[in-house]
Amino acid sequence: MSFQVTVLPGGHQIGAEAEETLLEAALRQGVLLPYGCRDGACGACKGKVLAGQIEQGTVSALSAEESVSGHALFCRARAKSDVTIECRQVSLAGAPPVKTLPARIERLERLAPDVIELGLRLPASEQFDFLAGQYIDILLKDGGRRSFSLAQAPGEPGLLSLHIRHVPGGVFTDQVFGSLKVRDILRINGPHGSFFLREASTKPIILVAGGTGFAPIKSIVEHAIRRNLQRPLHLYWGARSRVDLYLPDLPRAWAEAGHLSYVPVLSQPQVVDDWQGRTGWVHAAVLADFPDLAAYQVYACGAPAMVDAARRDFVAAGLPDAEFFVDAFLFSR
Ligand SMILES: Cc1cc2nc3c(=O)[nH]c(=O)nc-3n(C[C@H](O)[C@H](O)[C@H](O)COP(=O)(O)OP(=O)(O)OC[C@H]3O[C@@H](n4cnc5c(N)ncnc54)[C@H](O)[C@@H]3O)c2cc1C
Ligand code: FES
Repeated sequence: MSFQVTVLPGGHQIGAEAEETLLEAALRQGVLLPYGCRDGACGACKGKVLAGQIEQGTVSALSAEESVSGHALFCRARAKSDVTIECRQVSLAGAPPVKTLPARIERLERLAPDVIELGLRLPASEQFDFLAGQYIDILLKDGGRRSFSLAQAPGEPGLLSLHIRHVPGGVFTDQVFGSLKVRDILRINGPHGSFFLREASTKPIILVAGGTGFAPIKSIVEHAIRRNLQRPLHLYWGARSRVDLYLPDLPRAWAEAGHLSYVPVLSQPQVVDDWQGRTGWVHAAVLADFPDLAAYQVYACGAPAMVDAARRDFVAAGLPDAEFFVDAFLFSR
């Protein structure tokens, strides 16, 4: 059975099969709604059901009050009748096609004690497009999936690069730091996500990375440099200690070449770090430098707590909600 879905603002009409989520239906028909985890956990796909019936699957990022007031998470919602939904940032960006492909490990390089760069080679016959900032899923043998952001600009030939932080006891990252080796074959699915550079805007950009949240930010910066983007870029990279800024020379080189301003921020600098730079929370450093964010666009990526605090405090500092783009590094349920 299939239902008609009207997406506001814009009034785009799409069809939704009873067994697919509203997000899947929209993406399949080229309507790009905001989304992140596709697991009901990050809240990125939250919107309102203005008319009609949906079935909201199991989610954690929707309160009882929000449910009662007609809000829904479209990544886990299915139509039960024709519906009209509303969500922010609807775009017809022509998202690159999602593909499932084998990928051969070609590089396993330790960038920090708990960060490895995984280089994946796709079949030569396959073209794989993505938008700067998007992520892929690694498909596990048990049917699970694990999400990792692409750490290079789109359109570069060669390897797909991922920056993987070790989660001790984690099913997949334990393998990355233990048993996986060069020439092993993984399966990937992607690209995914609505965290990507909005190129139509002329606003100056603030980029906020926490830990391996640097990966999609690197993709956006390298894309902006390649496209000779004329908008001012301000990069803040937060980490615990100096060793966690695992590619220290790269952002410094971008800054020296005049592409952006760069501020590294450590939350727990060690004595051996001999750190003379900024300390504390990375989003607090942004606010100290930019107390009025009304005229900016912000891209923030990293741990959910950092992203949530940034949203709360940046919006209070005047940042329009629609100019705040996030990727929260949640983990699979
Ligand atoms: C859109 C998206 C993009 C992401 N991009 C990146 C990236 O570029 N680089 C990167 O390093 N990570 C990234 N992550 C996080 C990454 O997906 C998880 O760390 C990873 O799935 C852990 O897999 P695992 O099998 O090792 O752990 P699991 O077996 O899934 O988890 C084991 C246990 O560890 C805990 N855990 C798992 N992951 C985390 C975490 N991230 N933080 C805190 N505790 C955790 C949980 O308690 C969990 O039950 C991203 C997540 C999302 C949603
Ligand atoms: S809650 Fe729907 S994409 Fe994360």
